[in-house]
Amino acid sequence: MTTIILAAGEGTRMRSRQAKVLHEIGGRSLLAHAVDAVAQLRPQRLVVVIGHQAEQVGPHALTLDPHLEVATQHERGGTGHAVRVALEAVKGHSPTVMVTYGDVPLLQTDTLRQLLEQHAIGGHVATLLTAQLPDPSGYGRIVRDAEGAITEIVEQHDANAAQLSICEVNSGIFAFDADFLRQALAQLSTDNAQGELYLTDVVGIARRVGAGVGAVLLADRWQTEGVNDREQLARLGAEFNRRTVIGWMRRGVTIVDPPSTWIDWGVVLDADVTLLPGVQLHGATTVEHGAVVGPDTTLTDVSVGSGATITRTHGREAVVGDDAVVGPFAYLRPGTRLGRTAKIGAFVEAKNADLGPGAKVPHLSYVGDATVGEGTNIGAGTIFANFDGVAKHHTVVGRHCRTGSDNVFVAPVEIGDGAVTGAGTVVRRDVPPGALAVSSGPQRHIERWVARKRPGSPAANAAAAAAREPADGGQSGSVGQTGETATEGTHP
Ligand code: UD1
Ligand code: MG
Repeated sequence: MTTIILAAGEGTRMRSRQAKVLHEIGGRSLLAHAVDAVAQLRPQRLVVVIGHQAEQVGPHALTLDPHLEVATQHERGGTGHAVRVALEAVKGHSPTVMVTYGDVPLLQTDTLRQLLEQHAIGGHVATLLTAQLPDPSGYGRIVRDAEGAITEIVEQHDANAAQLSICEVNSGIFAFDADFLRQALAQLSTDNAQGELYLTDVVGIARRVGAGVGAVLLADRWQTEGVNDREQLARLGAEFNRRTVIGWMRRGVTIVDPPSTWIDWGVVLDADVTLLPGVQLHGATTVEHGAVVGPDTTLTDVSVGSGATITRTHGREAVVGDDAVVGPFAYLRPGTRLGRTAKIGAFVEAKNADLGPGAKVPHLSYVGDATVGEGTNIGAGTIFANFDGVAKHHTVVGRHCRTGSDNVFVAPVEIGDGAVTGAGTVVRRDVPPGALAVSSGPQRHIERWVARKRPGSPAANAAAAAAREPADGGQSGSVGQTGETATEGTHP
């Protein structure tokens, strides 16, 4: 079998610089959906006819399947002309030719199998997929005789009033006897409202030579629907997603709010995964058994281990280990890897960061270009200062460290295993294993500074009132000088 996917049309109504068949639903192009549906039949030849914006469509098409060939239709001569171009481009002979469209993304391989089966059983020269539509406008209408045999297909622009009232339409998807098709294509004329060579006229030609035309009426009309504008793109995208979500629920995934859950075609989920409302899973994201994702979480190419919890998080190209905890309000950037039971907490951004098992960055931190060892806790408000304005550098924090709140690790720097840092420490030199690092100076008090510099201000009044307060134990006048007042402030 030779399969031909027509994708040379202009797609004017998309109003886009991007070729229509390159627009995406479910995380891949319309053309990728169309190619996948036919490629699963393992046809001898798989030809995509390109024309409009061929410089975009051609290279993309060639990435989709190693056996795919591209034929270029230089002028838009109609669907019949496009099929001629394809047949001229493929050498060799196959008995059956199947034609589908690059902009019909929900078409299933099983439906094509059914079409081919009917084509073989019926012994027809042509067999097509039809659908009954409540509003058939725009489509070619299927005209049948008193016995119900198909006599011709009439395009919208060429139809009379009686034909326009027919609700059975041509999907455009055909199986042909190859010899018949070649002969019939040679007889097509442009004598019609659009001045094009209509592939659909092949049906009338079959009837005239007394050959049979078969049809498979498809109850699932979504499979025959094409994308012509952005509204249809959204509608078909939503329907594709609805089907994807149902498929995962059938395989044991709990999806609390299907309409707000978007799952790309390449995503893989285990049974007993729970997706809370507002989750988008893109690319090659995988989620293992028992993990809970959401609400309001977007993950692209992220691997989530079993039992992990990811709450209100945006992530890309990251790996989250088993039973790890992420969020709420976390940002996982490429190269973030969390070991078992590790934690990236609220308002934490991580990039190219490796957290060992049980390592925790619980609050308000930036972890860039870092290795954090097993069991280490990073204090609240810590910045891994990885960029010196010229290059990025790496920070290593060892195993079972406790670093204080509001630290800055000025990379490249290494904090040894079991080390501790005080609150507000700026770590510029390596810290030996087991040491306590403190870098803030002793705390000093400039007494009565507010009274002198801000007299009469609310602060000065409050301070004056406090000074008269006997309950302060008379300590307000002493000058603090001890280093210990720079408390460690570790915030577990
Ligand atoms: C076509 C059918 C119509 C059918 C409808 C289903 C014909 C004459 N009409 O109409 O019966 O109901 O599809 O959607 O076949 N294309 C090319 N080269 C061309 C012209 C078209 O590659 O010169 C491709 C387009 O990219 C598209 C497909 O063929 O993928 C259909 O073309 P389109 O212009 O959308 O045809 P319709 O008028 O919708
Ligand atoms: Mg169309």
